[in-house]
Amino acid sequence: SNRTFTMIKPDAMKNGHAGAILDRIIKEGFRVVSLKMTKLSKEKAGEFYAVHKERPFYGELVDFMSSGLIIAAILEKPDAVSAFRTLIGATNPAQAEAGTIRKLFATSIGENAVHGSDSDENALIEGNFFFSALEQF
Ligand code: GTP
Ligand code: MG
Repeated sequence: SNRTFTMIKPDAMKNGHAGAILDRIIKEGFRVVSLKMTKLSKEKAGEFYAVHKERPFYGELVDFMSSGLIIAAILEKPDAVSAFRTLIGATNPAQAEAGTIRKLFATSIGENAVHGSDSDENALIEGNFFFSALEQF
């Protein structure tokens, strides 16, 4: 598919990196299909990350993702899921390649600046979690 879904996470929002991150994403050739600033309730964050429910860090992840504003966006580029995950780098910024968004802007493995969908199927589910069909341009 040519679409993926991303969130700029609360750490990057609080640290003032949202503009630089969006600038980088656009310079890398992604078209913005949908975009909004919003805040997840604990309940919504838990629902979004339900696949991680059994992981030891689930509680921490839900608390963090509901701790402040986020920017949610659907992005378009050929082979979007894999191109975007390359651009953001490894989950743990300490292991992320030089020049990736997480290496540049993330704080820690938990507070890692951005989300990127891990499959075409999840990109669709996650985009539809935040945006109605009429908001997907
Ligand atoms: P996402 O794009 O956010 O889905 O990250 P990912 O696909 O690189 O990682 P994964 O889906 O495995 O984990 C989802 C999120 O859970 C990560 O981005 C982190 O925010 C958080 N997370 C993962 N592992 C840990 C951990 O060991 N400790 C903590 N506190 N958080 C973690
Ligand atoms: Mg993931």
